[in-house]
Amino acid sequence: MPDLDARARVILGENDRGGFTVPTSGLYPFQWNWDSCFVALGFAAFDEDRAWQEIETLLSSQWADGMVPSIIFHQDDPGYFPGPEIWATGRTPHSTGITQPPVAASCVRLLLEQARDRSAAEHRARALLPKLLASHRWFHEARDPSGSGLVTTIHPWETGMDNSPAWDEAMARMEVAPDLEPYERRDTGHVDASQRPHKSDYDRYMTLVELFRRHGYAHEIEALSPWRVADPCTNFLLLRADRDLAWLAEQFGEPTRQIQIWITRAEAALPRLLHPATGHPHALDLVTGELAPTPTSAGFLSLWAGLGDAATIERLEAWIAPTPYPVASVAIDDRRFESRRYWRGPTWAFANFMIADGLARSGRPDLASRIQTATRTLIERHGFFEYFDPLTGEGCGGDSFSWTAAMWLAWASRDRAGG
Ligand code: GLC
Repeated sequence: MPDLDARARVILGENDRGGFTVPTSGLYPFQWNWDSCFVALGFAAFDEDRAWQEIETLLSSQWADGMVPSIIFHQDDPGYFPGPEIWATGRTPHSTGITQPPVAASCVRLLLEQARDRSAAEHRARALLPKLLASHRWFHEARDPSGSGLVTTIHPWETGMDNSPAWDEAMARMEVAPDLEPYERRDTGHVDASQRPHKSDYDRYMTLVELFRRHGYAHEIEALSPWRVADPCTNFLLLRADRDLAWLAEQFGEPTRQIQIWITRAEAALPRLLHPATGHPHALDLVTGELAPTPTSAGFLSLWAGLGDAATIERLEAWIAPTPYPVASVAIDDRRFESRRYWRGPTWAFANFMIADGLARSGRPDLASRIQTATRTLIERHGFFEYFDPLTGEGCGGDSFSWTAAMWLAWASRDRAGG
């Protein structure tokens, strides 16, 4: 499907703002943390130099304490809310004061392993290593001060799965600030409101932002946030990223002892997320100590982390069996499933990529290729949308979306699959 390859490259080119890529123009006009990491994998299919640059630009915006922000506001754009003046973090470049799931070290490893120009790639990877290490240290220290082995996420936006039903209980018990500043959303000006989070969610998102801002984004916000969750996605991605960071450190003769300690701790703690009845990993509300009742596809990212076992794969097979276009973010027979509302049911190409990667590494290339084929079909029939309705395949959210184009180039296209 070479014309789609060309189209995917055009999308990345059009969304390129010079050294970084916006997820899509209009709806998301800045640099997003984990989007950029996946986008780098797409660039690598035709321009390795540009692929490295995407991650370099992201990490050049790292805070002094090691945190890599969720959004970097390299330039102004009135079409987005909440922008730099609301976050008011006082950092240069302007950024949010929260992070996103850590995937940079894993993408750097993939770039290095697949590099056509190995020595140039080694040079770039080695230069990124201290920054990656600092960002992992930040997660393990600032977001797990007691060394429990699970890192805390303090805002739904940090999970990258903003309105997942896994947050419903934690969101419901959270009070909206009575003095919340009036605000005007911009997302519903770009995309139909039926596909976006509700106002009640947004009021809570903004309550948290105002709280963090009042506390100057200090480390203490980890303890102050009324919304504290051990998110399966963040924790599984961090474990995989720690393994990849250790691999990178070994390549360059750097010590790995501290990274191994993080890995061992996480492996010991992650079983706390397993639902006692099903064994599926759920979000753990660290305020109440309760597991969220709704299972989501984030639980299958245990495969990406190298923790998927036969039971995980069986659950995944049951999850996708009735779904025309897997992997639905919420099971299609769940009472909270909504086929088009963002993280409450739709399927996402980059999430499918991580699940399929984990399956291929867990001895199930057949199932990995089924998910790959389903993702390819979605893009062939419906285009490079932000995400897709898992029942009809229809594209939803933003169009000409960078990480969907990148996943096509890096993984889903027929050429990538070898025919
Ligand atoms: C939304 C998604 C998040 C993504 C961002 C930009 O906020 O929930 O995962 O990083 O859009 O694409």
